[in-house]
Amino acid sequence: MGRRLYLISCIGIIGYMMGCHTIKKSEESTNSIPEPLRPLFHFTPLQGWMNDPNGLVYFEDEYHLFYQHYPDSTVWGPMHWGHAVSKDLVQWQHLPIALYPDTIGLIFSGSIVVDHQNSSGLSQDGKIPLVAIFTHHNIEAEKSGQVDYEKQSIAYSTDLGRTWTMYKSNPVLINLTGSKDFRDPKVFWYEPNKSWIMVTAVRDHISLWSSPDLKQWSFLSDFGADWGSHNGVWECPDLFPIQIEGSRDTAWVLLLSINPGGPNGGSATQYFIGDFNGQAFSLSEEFKTLVADDRAMWVDYGADNYAGVTWSGIPEQDGRRLFLGWMSNWTYAQIVPTKTWRSAMTLPRELKLHHTPQGLRMISIPIQELTSLRKDSITLKPQSFKDTLDITALYDLHDANVELELEFEINRMDAKMLEVLFSNDTGEVFMLGLDLQLNQYYMDRKKSSFNHFSNPFIESVHIAPRSLKSNFIKLHIFLDVASCELFADEGATIMTDIFFPSQPYHHIKIASPGSTTKLVQGTIYPLSTH
Ligand code: FRU
Repeated sequence: MGRRLYLISCIGIIGYMMGCHTIKKSEESTNSIPEPLRPLFHFTPLQGWMNDPNGLVYFEDEYHLFYQHYPDSTVWGPMHWGHAVSKDLVQWQHLPIALYPDTIGLIFSGSIVVDHQNSSGLSQDGKIPLVAIFTHHNIEAEKSGQVDYEKQSIAYSTDLGRTWTMYKSNPVLINLTGSKDFRDPKVFWYEPNKSWIMVTAVRDHISLWSSPDLKQWSFLSDFGADWGSHNGVWECPDLFPIQIEGSRDTAWVLLLSINPGGPNGGSATQYFIGDFNGQAFSLSEEFKTLVADDRAMWVDYGADNYAGVTWSGIPEQDGRRLFLGWMSNWTYAQIVPTKTWRSAMTLPRELKLHHTPQGLRMISIPIQELTSLRKDSITLKPQSFKDTLDITALYDLHDANVELELEFEINRMDAKMLEVLFSNDTGEVFMLGLDLQLNQYYMDRKKSSFNHFSNPFIESVHIAPRSLKSNFIKLHIFLDVASCELFADEGATIMTDIFFPSQPYHHIKIASPGSTTKLVQGTIYPLSTH
C-alpha cells in the first residue's frame, strides 16, 4: 500500500470520525452493472473501489468474501469491508457493507474465524460466532506523526455474517512493535496448543501471536527479516498447513505479499515452505537456499495478483486450500479506465504442494467449480501446424470470455516460440506464450489497448521461469474481457494480467513462428456470463 493512500479523502475521513458519513448501505443484489470493461465471471464490486480480499471464511454452506472497499469513490479512501456470499465460489451475491470505519480508525485487511467453542464468549443465544480480526488504521494519528496508528481489533456476527458488532474493548492488540506497519492479521486455530495463532505483517517481517480467546494476545516469534524479497513493504500474510500430494506428510506454507518489489514490477505475492511448531515458523532447508539473499519464490508471475489469502473454515472432508487474490497492482490500480467501479478478484484457485524434480513446490489450479461456467465445448483436431493456427472461426466468441485447454508437443530443433494471441478488429492484441530458448513463459500487453493510461502498465513484457524442460506443454487459459489467467504445466507456473481493450478480443490465434508444432489436444470452452 505505502504512503500513496493517505493523501486521499481527508474530508471523508474526518466525516467518518465524527460519525456523520453519508454512505448508503448497498442494496442486496445479485446483478452487477454492465460496463464494457467489466469482467463477466470474476468478482467485482457493484460500485466504487475494491482492493484486498478479506475475511475469507466458509460457514454454514456459504463462502464469504469480504473485501477492502470504498463505496463512495473509484479510488482508495476510508476503508470498509464490502461483503458477498456464494454457494460455489462462482456465482456471488452482493450483501450490504459489513464493517464501517469508526472512531478508532479505518477498517484495513484481516481475516475471519468460526469460533466453534465460543472461546471468545461472543456467542449470543447459543449461536456460533464468526469473529473478524482486522487492522484499525487511524489516519489522524498517522498524520500527527505517531507511529502506533495500526492496531488489531475484532468484530463479531451471530447471524451468518449478515450484521456485525464491534467488540466493546477494541483494539485487542496495540502496536508495541515500534513499526508504523503492523497490519493484516490472519488467524487460525492451532489444535496441538489449543490456541488461536495470529500472523501479522510488520514492515519487513511477520510476527506471530497466540491467544486463548481472540481477545488477549501474547507475542510468540518473528520471521522473515532475513529471508525472501525485501524490495517493498510486507503485507497480507497467511500461514497454513497443506498435505503434500501423494504422501501423508504436511508442510506449512507462508504467503506474503510485497509492494513494490514484485518480479514483474509493483505488487506480488511470495511464498515460503517450512514448518510451524506452535511457536515459530521455520524454513525447510531447501527453501533456505531458494529465498536467501533477497530472492523469492512467487505465487504468480503476472502483474495482477496481490494480497491473496486463503479461506478458513473449509470442512475437513473437502480439505482444499482455496485462494483468492486481488487482480490488480498498486502501481496503476487507481487509474485503470473503468468508470463506476475499480478492480476485480482473481479466479479462486486451489493451492497444492507437489514434489518436483527441483524440490517441493506450490502449484495453483483453477477450482473445479469453474467448470459450471462452460456452455459448450469445442474439441480441436489434433494436428501439426506451421506458423499459425487461427481458431477464431470455430466458435462465436461474442463476449470475449473463454477457457482454453491446449497441449502441444514442440520440436526443440525448430521451434523458438509458442504463442496464443487474443485480438480484436482494431488490431489490439494481448499475447502469452513460451519462449523456448529461454524456457520462460511471458505475457505481453504492450499492444493490448491503444488507449494507454499509464506507462508502467505497458512498459515491459512479464516473464516467468518455466520449471519443466519437457517438450510437452500444457496451457490452461481463462480470458474474461479484461484479464487473462494462465495456468501452465498443470499449475506449475501461473501468470495473471489485466488489460483494457477498446473492443472485446474476438479472435484467437495460436502461433509458432517459423516452425511446425503439434497440437496434441485442445478444447475451447465458451463460458457463460452468470
Ligand atoms: C494491501 C494493503 C493492506 C492494507 C490494505 C489497505 O493491499 O495495503 O496492507 O490493510 O491494503 O486498504
